[in-house]
Amino acid sequence: MLNSDNSISIMYDLAIIGGGPGGYVAAERAGAAGLKVVLFEKRALGGVCLNEGCIPTKTLLYSAKIYHYALTGDHYGVYAKDPSFEYGKIISRKNKVVRKLVAGVKAAMKANQVEVVQSEAFIEGRDAEGIRIKAVDQEYVSRNLLICTGSEAAVPPFPGLAEAGDIIVTNREILSLEEQPKEIVIIGGGVIGMEFASFFNTLGTKVTVVEMLPKILGPLDDEISALLQKIYAKRGIEFCLRCKVTGIEGNQVVYEDPDGKTCKVAGDKILVSVGRKASLTGFGAENLGLAYLENKAGRPVGIRVDEQMRTNVPNVYAAGDVTGFSMLAHTASREGEVAVNHILGKPDRMRYEAIPGVVYTNPEVAGVGLTEEQARESGKEFEVIKLPMAYSGRFVAENEGGEGLCKLIVGKKHHEVLGVHLLGNPCSEIIHSACIAIETEMTVEQLKEVVFPHPTVSEIIKETVFTLK
Ligand code: NAI
Repeated sequence: MLNSDNSISIMYDLAIIGGGPGGYVAAERAGAAGLKVVLFEKRALGGVCLNEGCIPTKTLLYSAKIYHYALTGDHYGVYAKDPSFEYGKIISRKNKVVRKLVAGVKAAMKANQVEVVQSEAFIEGRDAEGIRIKAVDQEYVSRNLLICTGSEAAVPPFPGLAEAGDIIVTNREILSLEEQPKEIVIIGGGVIGMEFASFFNTLGTKVTVVEMLPKILGPLDDEISALLQKIYAKRGIEFCLRCKVTGIEGNQVVYEDPDGKTCKVAGDKILVSVGRKASLTGFGAENLGLAYLENKAGRPVGIRVDEQMRTNVPNVYAAGDVTGFSMLAHTASREGEVAVNHILGKPDRMRYEAIPGVVYTNPEVAGVGLTEEQARESGKEFEVIKLPMAYSGRFVAENEGGEGLCKLIVGKKHHEVLGVHLLGNPCSEIIHSACIAIETEMTVEQLKEVVFPHPTVSEIIKETVFTLK
């Protein structure tokens, strides 16, 4: 297309801003379906998930898990002499894994004829031809746009935070520390906080978690989060609950305890993990007239979308953390697919009832659907059925002395599965069966007819459903 100033704009079916699990999966699907796709990524393909989130943390946690196994091998009759680790090697292996997977995404883009532009993209506006985007002095015009700009760590302006310099880290900087901290204070006992608490505790760092709520892992089933907290308290993590952080003084975190007393705790690193905020600015979103989800104070917290991931602007879609809704990589990928299917004219819609949540502590925690607390709030009539994980033979074989729980929330009248919550390894790998049960609205009676492989930890779900009277 020739512009009035004789420059050329390239025409696309779909432009995607952001190459995280929302953007790159959408690009892959759209490319495979024959659309002409351009994907803009200003940092690294794979986004937060591959470069500074899911993958690097799970790689680090796996090293910690191996070390833990070496330390506790005697429980299984296996003796490792003086187990030790090299922190630098743990970090360099993590870097290697990330590089390999980013290269894999690059290859997938190539295989699906997706044009990747390694640059910041800026939306200039929308006209009869399409949406105009500028990147490295080139103008791109696309019939459709998918915004997948993700989110960034929310760092509250605690007094003294700026002065604390390098002592303060977020999920990004903490991944590449050259030395293992001797003491770390973690502000926020959410998912990021607890995964790093688990990692550093296993490696011998003194860990203190300061959390303003009365429990860790807020949205998780209360019983399961209490069990996990007990396990880690026994392993030496100090939990300061109902403690709101009010400032930083050098290497000390200042907080108010439940009695309103001001307390301080010191660490050579302080991790701020108090949530993430959608990345809504810096890419020209204001030139489209988008509608936003707002918080109670009227501030935008995400791009408003419908169940086809359409924004209020025709042909403009959004997926992933930028919607400010369910900030999880697997949600982002599915949302991206829904947007692409809508562009392709395939019927599809985004549903959030069966989105699993996993915390990769050791033991792992996984849940899907309503928690007992949410079921109570919903006013639904329900029953709770549960069993210790020790009812699974495989669990007992592989988790000497390990605690665990399987808990199901079931509709009282029709026995439909409303929620499944698990604590115990390797529940991250079995929770999808519960996702399928909830997604397909299975009842306990239908679940009873499914043959689970034996011996597996997954059988605990089947054992538990048989306890329903
Ligand atoms: P989060 O929302 O999970 O937890 C933040 C915690 O900080 C909350 O418990 C909150 O009460 C606490 N907090 C806030 N202000 C505080 C203050 N002044 N003093 C003390 N405590 C305070 O957020 P997090 O852990 O930063 O994770 C961000 C996002 O990343 C989440 O949306 C999560 O879903 C996603 N994520 C998912 C993972 C997974 O699926 N395994 C792993 C890591 C992150």
